[in-house]
Amino acid sequence: MTISARAHVAGVMGWPIGHSLSPRLHGFWLREYGIDGAYIPMLVNPDDAASVIRALPKMGFAGTNVTIPHKEVALATVDEADERARAIGSVNTIVCRPDGSLWGTSTDGFGFMESLKVHQPDWNAFDGPAVVLGAGGSSRAVCAALIEAGSREVRLVNRTTHRAEAVADALGSVVCALPWSDRDRALLDAAILVNTTSQGMIGNPPLEISLDHLPPEAIVTDIVYTPLMTPLLKAAAARGNPVVDGLEMLLHQARPGFAHWFGKEPVVTEELRRYVRQALGS
Ligand code: ATR
Repeated sequence: MTISARAHVAGVMGWPIGHSLSPRLHGFWLREYGIDGAYIPMLVNPDDAASVIRALPKMGFAGTNVTIPHKEVALATVDEADERARAIGSVNTIVCRPDGSLWGTSTDGFGFMESLKVHQPDWNAFDGPAVVLGAGGSSRAVCAALIEAGSREVRLVNRTTHRAEAVADALGSVVCALPWSDRDRALLDAAILVNTTSQGMIGNPPLEISLDHLPPEAIVTDIVYTPLMTPLLKAAAARGNPVVDGLEMLLHQARPGFAHWFGKEPVVTEELRRYVRQALGS
C-alpha cells in the first residue's frame, strides 16, 4: 500500500530482527483497514538501544515494539511505564505521546490471556494450580498475568532454581519456586501447564518432561511457535489434553500497540492466522 507524508509510523526494534513476524502481522492489519501507516523492522545494536528509543518522538514515530534483547533497556528508558511493565521488569510496547515523552507497557501477559480466552474460554484461574516452566522475561509476564487473573498457586519450575526464586520474590507468595528435578511431580493436580523455556524450539532439543502426573483435562500451552506443534504439545495432545500453541499469544500481544499507534482495534481472524502461518511454513 502507498503511504502519504502524514502516515503514522511504528516498528519493531530487535537484535537480530530478521526472524520477527511482527512486520507481517501489523502489515496485514494496515492493509486490511486501509490505514495510512507503516510498520518497519529496525535492527538496533544493544549499545544504541536507549538512544534510538529516545530519538523516536523526534523522528515523528507513533511508537514501537521492542523485542529481545531490548525489553529491559526499554523499561529503563521510557519516561513512564505502567504497573504491569514495572512488575515484570520489561517493556515490549512504547507509545510516543504528543508532548514527546515515552510511555511503555508489556503486552505479553495480555497476549497469553487472550490466547486462552479464544481457545479455552472455559478455563478459569480458580480451576487449579498453574505450572510454569522457565524463569526468563516471558515467564514473568505469564506468571504476572496468571496472578492478575486470580491464580492462587503458580508452581514455577526452572533449570536454575535461583532464577525461579527471583521471580517468586518479585511477584509474591502466589508463585512457588521449585527445582528442575521436581518438574514431573509439579504436574500433580495442575489445571494448566505453560512452557516458557526455549526447549522444543527448532534447533533446540525437546523439553524433557513426563506428563504422567498431569490431569487429562489440564490445558497445555507453549510460547514457542517454531514449530507450532512442539514436541510438548504433541505429547499433550496425544494423551488427550487440550493444547494452545504459541502463535495465538504472538498475534494477541500485538493488538494493544496497533490500537495505540494506528487508532484502530485490530481483530485476530482466521485469515490473519493463515497469513502468519504461511511465513512459518506450517
Ligand atoms: P525469555 O526472556 O525469552 O523468556 P530467557 O531469559 O533466555 O528467555 O529464558 C529462557 C528460559 O529457558 C530460562 O528459564 C532457561 O533456564 P535457565 O534460567 O536455567 O537458563 C530455560 N532453558 C534454556 N535451556 C534450557 C534447558 N536445556 N533445559 C531447561 N531449561 C532451559
